[in-house]
Amino acid sequence: ESAPINKDVVIIGAGPAGATLALILAKHYDIKPLVISRHKGTANTPRAHIFNQRAMEVMRDVGLEQQLSYVASAATEMQHTSWSHTLNGREYGRLWSWGNDPARRGTYEASSPCQMTDLPQSYLEPVLVKESQQLGVEYQFNTEFVSFKQTDDQVRTCIRNRESGTCSVVISKFLVGADGARSAVLDELGIPVDGCRLNDAFNVHIKADLSRYFEHRPGSLNWVLNPDAPEWSAVGNFRMVRPWNEFVVSMHPSAKEGKPFEPSSDDIRRRLYQMIGEKEVGIEILSAYKWTINDQIARSWQKGRVICIGDATHRHPPINGLGSNTYISDAFNVAWKLGYVLKGWASPRLLETLTDERKPVGDRIVRRANAGMEVHRKLWGILGLTQEARETAVQTLESDTCEGTLLRKDLRQTLELVDDEVQAIGIQMNQVYLNSRATMAELDDHPPDFSHSNELKDVFLSTFPGYHLPHLWLARDGHSPKVSTLDLAGHGYFLLLTREAGGKWLKAVETVLETRQIPIKACSIGFGCDYMDAYRGWSKICDVEDDGAVLVRPDHFVAWRCHSLQSGHVGKLQEVLGHCLGYD
Ligand code: FDA
Repeated sequence: ESAPINKDVVIIGAGPAGATLALILAKHYDIKPLVISRHKGTANTPRAHIFNQRAMEVMRDVGLEQQLSYVASAATEMQHTSWSHTLNGREYGRLWSWGNDPARRGTYEASSPCQMTDLPQSYLEPVLVKESQQLGVEYQFNTEFVSFKQTDDQVRTCIRNRESGTCSVVISKFLVGADGARSAVLDELGIPVDGCRLNDAFNVHIKADLSRYFEHRPGSLNWVLNPDAPEWSAVGNFRMVRPWNEFVVSMHPSAKEGKPFEPSSDDIRRRLYQMIGEKEVGIEILSAYKWTINDQIARSWQKGRVICIGDATHRHPPINGLGSNTYISDAFNVAWKLGYVLKGWASPRLLETLTDERKPVGDRIVRRANAGMEVHRKLWGILGLTQEARETAVQTLESDTCEGTLLRKDLRQTLELVDDEVQAIGIQMNQVYLNSRATMAELDDHPPDFSHSNELKDVFLSTFPGYHLPHLWLARDGHSPKVSTLDLAGHGYFLLLTREAGGKWLKAVETVLETRQIPIKACSIGFGCDYMDAYRGWSKICDVEDDGAVLVRPDHFVAWRCHSLQSGHVGKLQEVLGHCLGYD
């Protein structure tokens, strides 16, 4: 065993959660964690891919939005979700998807400076790793976590190089388990996990030019419900990796002559041709692999100096594409808290807000993904998953009978329910922290009432503490490009936003800076201010008077707001910051 290594932070796992956290720590706080991964490199299969606007906002904050949009497929390639018998055969239905419904496109555009993209994990991870390495983050691949021991002021983590078998001890102030669905760190913390394992999925990664089936209906997720081979489940999906020559096909071996079916590559190829509906297509099989779909959520994200994020804490079916997007938000939440604690700007108690803020988000997405799964099952039930059931369903659907009318109605209504998956901007954007000590609401301030809105489809815009800062376009002057409110926030800083009569708030921030060493800045929005409220959005949504203020945390969430200037405002701002940083 070699001499212990000292680090501020050790991160177990270089997936979307771990690599994002490492990148933000390095970029905004000059903290260079050690990241270890038991695998030889980054994800070797495409895995999670729907990349939503909230996740891209985090990437915009660290300056990676443009680079990632070059490697991602644009929203226009994600226009549809479709269901058919074979790719070249009968289509049962399709839906506009991921913000491409002409009637809803505006909501997506208005809600974020970023766009939806399709960004497979195998393209995302190398960018995150390379970028953070350039900032000094150390990655050790082929290295596994063995155990840890924490005391009041440090964590001793034992790691082992899988090639040489050599063990080392790393002493750090904090340990983060971003080690995926079978998190050894969470296990060792003894945090219980509620829920169950659902099923194994079988994915085949292929190269094949399938453009003729998709040019007229481009889409990320293309279901093929084909009951023609009893040894395979009728349910499959051609998931676009690269338009239109690289796909991950989910296709589930079921049973053959009563025994579990382990398909050979010839079996896989035969089934692929069957699902495509013709054999005149060249197919290169790159890999075939299983992965486990779970329905599980940990009871806590943190214990002392050890934190868990990502699949380590919440695991669910890929419905709504919320997994890795949510882990990127997890990482954004943890990064500023760890950064501030390590710099001595916040009390370690700030880390206790992690579970209060992120568990409700995790609970919601796990519930939503499972509810979405039920809708798919209903749809499969309507269309039938055996040859006989399918023939009957199709005959009924085509028939001029009462049964036909009823079944067509059922099919239409069920497809409408899938809209809650593929056009659900609300669940993507509405992460709200209402029971957190890292925000502070005035006693006479009240949360907005969204009880009559649709939490899956509508975006809840508010500057009430605990809400995400709404995105609105502003202008610096008549010559510069427009700027999002989100661009003013973040980058490791607290931000105090004021309006035309907020001069005293700007001075208050200067006073705070004299006494408290925290990154905080202030700016004004409005007529004659630092930023012009060019499209009048901020004045409609900010919900504070011309001399009011909104304090935003480094992760774009509102910490506090004050409707109008009161006497003792400097002391109040100090008090609020102290509270949000865990000092009372
Ligand atoms: P992630 O699992 O990505 O990363 C875990 C990291 O921890 C890895 O770097 C690993 O090496 C490391 N690690 C684990 N144990 C360790 C140990 N003991 N010591 C050291 N390092 C350790 N999702 C989806 O939406 N659609 C899909 O099609 C798929 N497909 C898919 C296929 C396969 C094969 C897998 C494994 C997963 C999927 N997923 C998926 C799920 C998706 O990939 C997953 O939700 C996210 O990657 C989770 O991101 P994390 O960063 O939390 O963990």
